[in-house]
Amino acid sequence: MSNLVRFGVSLDKELLQKFDERIKQKKYTNRSEAIRDLIRDDLVKKEWQEGKEVTGSITLVYNHHKRELTNLLIDIQHDYHDTVLSTQHIHLDEDNCLEIVVVKGKPREIEALYGKLKSAKGVKHGGFSMTTTGTEII
Ligand code: NI
Repeated sequence: MSNLVRFGVSLDKELLQKFDERIKQKKYTNRSEAIRDLIRDDLVKKEWQEGKEVTGSITLVYNHHKRELTNLLIDIQHDYHDTVLSTQHIHLDEDNCLEIVVVKGKPREIEALYGKLKSAKGVKHGGFSMTTTGTEII
């Protein structure tokens, strides 16, 4: 038997119009899937706020000619070897490198690692995507 539950939602017409425009832009085919994703996003946010074990990915763009920077980024990742699951290094062109660091652990540790990597002198840009281990999300 399916666990699917239907429920009605009352909301302002204008707000619903804005929601429908947004979900169309985001390529959702129906409201239900868009609402499910909003709920999941909120649950993932809650996992981070409550200090649960979470996952994520850090992206860094930097110039590899700065040897000290390359060594520093490696040193920082070694300091957090319990948190770093894997690192992928892409040579974007003759000068620039893109590094993707996949992480798993407590939000506090991941945020500290991200802060250290992003703030390393010479990193051109640092990005961060927070997600979940998936065990608590349906
Ligand atoms: Ni490279």
